Amino acid sequence: MNQTRKPPLLDMEFWSVTLILTVISGLLMWGVVIFPIDQYLAEASSVSKDIDFIFRFMAFFGVPIMVYVIGYIVYFAWRYHTRKGDDLMAVGSDIHDQPALETAWTIIPSILMLILGVISYVVLPKYYMASAASVATIEVIGHKFYYEFRYPGLSQSVDNEMHLPVGKQVTIDLTSTEPDIQHAVIHSFWVPEFRVKQDMIPGMIVPIHITPTQIGTYRIICTEFCGLGHPDMVGKVVVESQADFDKWFADQRTAQAGAANQKPIAFTRGDAAAGGQTFAAKCTVCHGTGSFDMRKVGPGLGNLFHDPNHANLVTGKPANDADVADIIEHGATGDLGTMPNMQVNGLTDKDIANLVAYLESLHK
Ligand code: CUA
Repeated sequence: MNQTRKPPLLDMEFWSVTLILTVISGLLMWGVVIFPIDQYLAEASSVSKDIDFIFRFMAFFGVPIMVYVIGYIVYFAWRYHTRKGDDLMAVGSDIHDQPALETAWTIIPSILMLILGVISYVVLPKYYMASAASVATIEVIGHKFYYEFRYPGLSQSVDNEMHLPVGKQVTIDLTSTEPDIQHAVIHSFWVPEFRVKQDMIPGMIVPIHITPTQIGTYRIICTEFCGLGHPDMVGKVVVESQADFDKWFADQRTAQAGAANQKPIAFTRGDAAAGGQTFAAKCTVCHGTGSFDMRKVGPGLGNLFHDPNHANLVTGKPANDADVADIIEHGATGDLGTMPNMQVNGLTDKDIANLVAYLESLHK
């Protein structure tokens, strides 16, 4: 075949283009560093700044990769395109292997991904790991198509408008359910200003821990396409001073006075059989399945849900699915010692749902 191509050259023109790309890249990287994200989307929770740091880190190193890759594609497409009089059958330059280049573009992104992974590993547990520092646990339940908030101390839930005191860590237990859980769907709890986004999954309780740091009203947006009402599924979270929060809370109490306590949520999606296996593997060191008084380290749990003599849990609340799940999740301290939380016990949210189903199925 006819070799009419000149060999490719790293000539003056190539280096000029490289210089231009370097300048563009440098300007954009500088922009990434100084861009005031907070002015466009408030950093309103304890993890917002960390999440934004991860975002900046990704954008900072993503910018040169984007600029050089797209820049050279456009430049080479222009420089080496077929011109009038060129042999249309000509083959391209015969270049194979550039070990130095290939090593560089493999090693550098690998190191960047590794650093990104390590940073994420440090940051993300800040709101996923159970923590004893929370002042309260609030249940947030996704429904078709609204949010329900349950506060300790309120007999009725509050819909669509969540109130939080500024500067106080809270645990938010996220789930989704319907009167018939078979009809429940996955929603997602997203507060952009908190930089927190978490799916709400029927039968699972996912706890997150955040401290709101800026007074203001923020949107809660469902980011899981959950049905026809999905676009309307917007709630709000009002972060206010402790005094304002106390006033709001007192008003709720007054408004709810006389109302009967609502029924706890039914987390019936757990699999009792799977829960039995988890119980045998993780719980039997300290708990048996006999009656309350058949203690190992902790009490026997065979009658946990059906014991008129011990109607209340170690937390003082009556035994119901959500509160039992809460104990397994956060651990508990009783007269005989301390039960560790789910992280220490190596339990997933699914394990907890299964354990609750299993314990409920027991009846001694
Ligand atoms: Cu709920 Cu989308």
